[in-house]
Amino acid sequence: MTSLELRQINKNYGAYHALRGIDLSVAQGEFIVMVGPSGCGKSTLLKSIAGLEEISSGQILINGRDVSKQEPGDRGIAMVFQSYALYPHMTVAENMGFGLRMAKRPKAEIEAAVARAAKILRITDQLEKRPKQLSGGQRQRVAIGRAITRSPDVFLFDEPLSNLDAALRTQMRVELSSLHAELGATMVYVTHDQVEAMTMASRIVVLNQGVIEQVGAPLELYRNPDNLFVAGFLGAPRMNFLGVTVDEVSGRNITVSAPGLVPVTVELAEAAVLPKGASLTLGVRPENISVVADAAQGGAINGAVRLVEHLGRETILYIDAGNLRTIASESGTGNITVQLSYVAPFATDQNVALKLDASELYLFSSDDGRTISTRKTILER
Ligand SMILES: Nc1ncnc2c1ncn2[C@@H]1O[C@H](COP(=O)(O)OP(=O)(O)O)[C@@H](O)[C@H]1O
Ligand SMILES: [Mg+2]
Repeated sequence: MTSLELRQINKNYGAYHALRGIDLSVAQGEFIVMVGPSGCGKSTLLKSIAGLEEISSGQILINGRDVSKQEPGDRGIAMVFQSYALYPHMTVAENMGFGLRMAKRPKAEIEAAVARAAKILRITDQLEKRPKQLSGGQRQRVAIGRAITRSPDVFLFDEPLSNLDAALRTQMRVELSSLHAELGATMVYVTHDQVEAMTMASRIVVLNQGVIEQVGAPLELYRNPDNLFVAGFLGAPRMNFLGVTVDEVSGRNITVSAPGLVPVTVELAEAAVLPKGASLTLGVRPENISVVADAAQGGAINGAVRLVEHLGRETILYIDAGNLRTIASESGTGNITVQLSYVAPFATDQNVALKLDASELYLFSSDDGRTISTRKTILER
């Protein structure tokens, strides 16, 4: 059953077009995670669903009901913000029961709802405290508890964990996933945290400049990005992009090269029509590059180690690959990021030969960034 449906949502702030033709259908019980760069419209979309912002055009349906013109309190949603927005003069129990008190529900019902939410969130022993007597994690639990007591049809979360320290964030992430499983509720969750997106989502929505770039299961988006933007946005450290030209096309096999890159053949799932000499963007994730002894193999690159990050379980190498033309790199032209799943004994300035794993390469149009040929390139191997 469809729980939340967005139809052609547009939102203008004066001349600024913050949301452009957003279409999304969310099934009952789904956990939708929305990601995208700062300012792309994530909060605007959540606030529009909640009714805190009026949309310029389009329709919002909750359980089949058009709520576009309804007041926030009548929409059957509850929203949890990054800032907990608790009332400082009220106790935890009063904060959690606030929505139900406003709705003039009977006292016994409010008490039961608060007790149930407190039990789920394990803050039963905190109910008589005031927010300032609580830790950040406990305060965010109260804010979530306030949402639960209202038994909404749809929960909206706007970066709810970003004020917490790393350890607490991990703990709350696991708890929120269990909470979702327990309540079976529909949730739309905004985050800038890659791990939260990959681990919590039934489906991820990638938003960019007010437009949905792609929607899909986390691993589907990771392995089968529709375009360069999605490929570059999901994954940390991010995918490397190299400017290459087509040397040869033979059916499904495309051989590309670049100054500084030994020609490499990429096998696509379907034949692509590309002229010899065409410019493309080659994408390779840091985990699909290895350090090799022989720099002459297909897909090899020579470079010098500029920085080594030892993370214990893995090693990140930042390589200066000279004249190699890298695109949209976080660290500038000629820089390749390599992620090795072992403790690698490399030193700064050391020369290394790299090899790209030909079975894990992506090709994008250099005009519009779309993935070349097919989305199935990697998944169907
Ligand atoms: N009340 C407002 N008035 C004018 N512009 C706004 C308003 N709220 C948000 N915007 C603009 O809309 C865009 C999207 O903002 P927002 O939804 O907060 O982004 P995100 O949450 O993805 O970081 C930004 O460019 C922001 O400056
Ligand atoms: Mg925001």
